[in-house]
Amino acid sequence: MKSIKVGLLGIGTVGSGTFDVLKRNQQEIAARAGRAIEITMVADLDIERAKQLTNGEITVVNDANLVVDHPDIDIVIELIGGVGIAKTLVLKAIANGKHVVTANKALIAAHGNEIFKAAQEKGVIVAFEAAVAGGIPIIKALREGLTANRIQWLAGIINGTTNFILSEMRDKGLDFDVALKDAQRLGYAESDPTFDIEGIDAAHKLTIMASIAFGIPVQFDKAYVEGITKLQATDIRYAEQLGYRIKLLGITKRTNGGIELRVHPTLIPTTRLIANVEGAMNAVLVRGDAVGDTLYYGKGAGAEPTASAVIADLVDITRLATADPEHRVPHLAFQPNAMADTPI
Ligand code: NDP
Ligand code: HSE
Repeated sequence: MKSIKVGLLGIGTVGSGTFDVLKRNQQEIAARAGRAIEITMVADLDIERAKQLTNGEITVVNDANLVVDHPDIDIVIELIGGVGIAKTLVLKAIANGKHVVTANKALIAAHGNEIFKAAQEKGVIVAFEAAVAGGIPIIKALREGLTANRIQWLAGIINGTTNFILSEMRDKGLDFDVALKDAQRLGYAESDPTFDIEGIDAAHKLTIMASIAFGIPVQFDKAYVEGITKLQATDIRYAEQLGYRIKLLGITKRTNGGIELRVHPTLIPTTRLIANVEGAMNAVLVRGDAVGDTLYYGKGAGAEPTASAVIADLVDITRLATADPEHRVPHLAFQPNAMADTPI
């Protein structure tokens, strides 16, 4: 069977991780997808670096439009980030009939409703597992594993950078700025780290999870958002002395007045599992009416953990693209339902 041809936009931290993992595990991935998945074109502003990272094996361009417009490309992976050129390219890829995989939570949180509508009209899939909690398959869990449940609430540590900073400040006594620089060096932080430390990145992810868990549109502007910049080393120390750990949590739940969405530092008793999630690890606790509590834990940021989620979406799309279009379930796209107008 013909291989699926993929165009990669942006070969930075996550893009290079995706390229490497796809190459390293190509046989297993092809067996699971039912056919080979091949990155045949890469676009990046730094052509020389991109050529080095891809060992000169594939076509590298600096104009991403050339990838999005290329007739041979079946799936476009958007790993540029931001809501400017990334939005234009994603909408163009959809208009050109290509499936899209993205790790861009800022884009989905701000423009997801428009993007999913365009994708639905065009009959293509937009997949975004990597946009929430890095390598943890939480989108799949919410959409598929827990599909029988009425979700009551979910809460989690969904930003690796801030969890890393809080852990480093507590364990090594590092200053905030030093710990943030380390998180940037390790590839955890956003290109604008304000998004991490002010809780905006966590709110992007929370909004996306809430839309799937409760079947509501993506409504980032309705979230209460508070980051970790006002925390001092003494807050962390006193919390420990009292038997608590401070974590930046994203929390969403059903209430009588609608859906609550909030991100803020939270005191958690150190005896709780989630209080012991350290470094760039993420954890999401979900309560469903049938299953009760379930906990998802893993690496929430970084090149290969995020690549793992990007490739899972590639495999899903490859399987679906191979199916008869009439029987294709668009389970990776947001499905509005009866709760669409629920106030927040
Ligand atoms: P990077 O900044 O490392 O990579 C982005 C790449 O895109 C860079 O190589 C950049 O080139 C390139 N680029 C910028 N503009 C263009 C353009 N117009 N055309 C082609 N290439 C372009 O970011 P990350 O890999 O860290 O993040 C990518 C996405 O993944 C973001 O949406 C981020 O939020 C998300 N994400 C990141 C995670 C992580 O752990 N890092 C985890 C989960 C999601 P140049 O460097 O020359 O500007
Ligand atoms: N900057 C993000 C984080 C990357 O630290 O969690 C993963 O989404």
